[in-house]
Amino acid sequence: MSADHRSPSIQQSQIDEILGGRRMRRNRRADWSRRLVRETVLSVDDLIWPIFLIEGSGIRQPVPSMPGVERLSVDEAVRDAVKAEALGIPVLALFPYTDDALRDATGSEALNSDNLVCRACREIKKLGLNIGLMTDVALDPYTSHGHDGLLSGDKILNDETVAQLCRQALTQVDAGADIIGPSDMMDGRVGAIRMALDDAGMRDAQIMSYSAKYASAFYGPFRDAIGTNATLIGDKRTYQMDSANTDEALREAELDIAEGADMIMVKPGLPYLDIVWRLKDTFRMPTYAYQVSGEFAMIEAASANGWIDGERAMLESLMAFKRAGADGILTYFAPRIADLLARAK
Ligand code: PBG
Repeated sequence: MSADHRSPSIQQSQIDEILGGRRMRRNRRADWSRRLVRETVLSVDDLIWPIFLIEGSGIRQPVPSMPGVERLSVDEAVRDAVKAEALGIPVLALFPYTDDALRDATGSEALNSDNLVCRACREIKKLGLNIGLMTDVALDPYTSHGHDGLLSGDKILNDETVAQLCRQALTQVDAGADIIGPSDMMDGRVGAIRMALDDAGMRDAQIMSYSAKYASAFYGPFRDAIGTNATLIGDKRTYQMDSANTDEALREAELDIAEGADMIMVKPGLPYLDIVWRLKDTFRMPTYAYQVSGEFAMIEAASANGWIDGERAMLESLMAFKRAGADGILTYFAPRIADLLARAK
């Protein structure tokens, strides 16, 4: 090929001069070396596995918009809890698909000490596994309108909702929940729940606050899974955060920490890694991210079409959370990641 302007004849000595001995690729040349310089480690200890519950027994009902995810009857949830412990996953997060007949305007089923979540907590706790149970504090799985709080007309009532959430939290801890996860975004709920728990002598119950929870399009498949997509009236923008805001996330987290949160969380995950980073950097709290249903569905859908390598995308996405400073991730990939990590050993 003749030398022309597209292939200038640069000399080796010139390249050496430019690099001055600094070659970034040296450390990347072999697997052992890449491992040696790796900054971030993903471990099974970083995983929280969200599971969905449904009435019945022996039921594993697929959620179409979340390939590989199923709604589980309590007995099946117990089996998955055993599996989670065997895999080394530290925490399960429980979400119920409530029978339509049990949903009402005030979400009263949330206070039923025999509801799905409470029964699952009790059954799993009976086994004495080395695993934590996290329960969601919010009314949406139980309300006929699909909102996280009590409604008056089209307004969500903050303080009345908080009172209800305190009772919900007590009911869950009484059934065996270890970590209370308020996902409702009402003002003052962390402090109120802490106070209610302490008054009831439940001083050891932890609170992982959904501190920065955004009004997001990425919750769609989750709402299929718990059956609120069809019923939700309007949207959640008067309580969940505006995706344009980041300073506001700092204020939310600051309040939650002052009110007694033990751990804070950002949700959704990947589109909000800047928030994860800012919260971790600012508060140095145990900080978590929720890789939500829509994020999971996107990876699964692209993978099913052969457009991306699903397994690699899954691992890369989880590594990104760790790199951004997350101490752990709620992810529907949890059992698959745990399995992969175990086999890689
Ligand atoms: C509601 C709640 C939501 C999720 C967890 N708790 C959805 C919502 O706010 O409508 C979403 C989780 C996911 O999408 O995976 N309390």
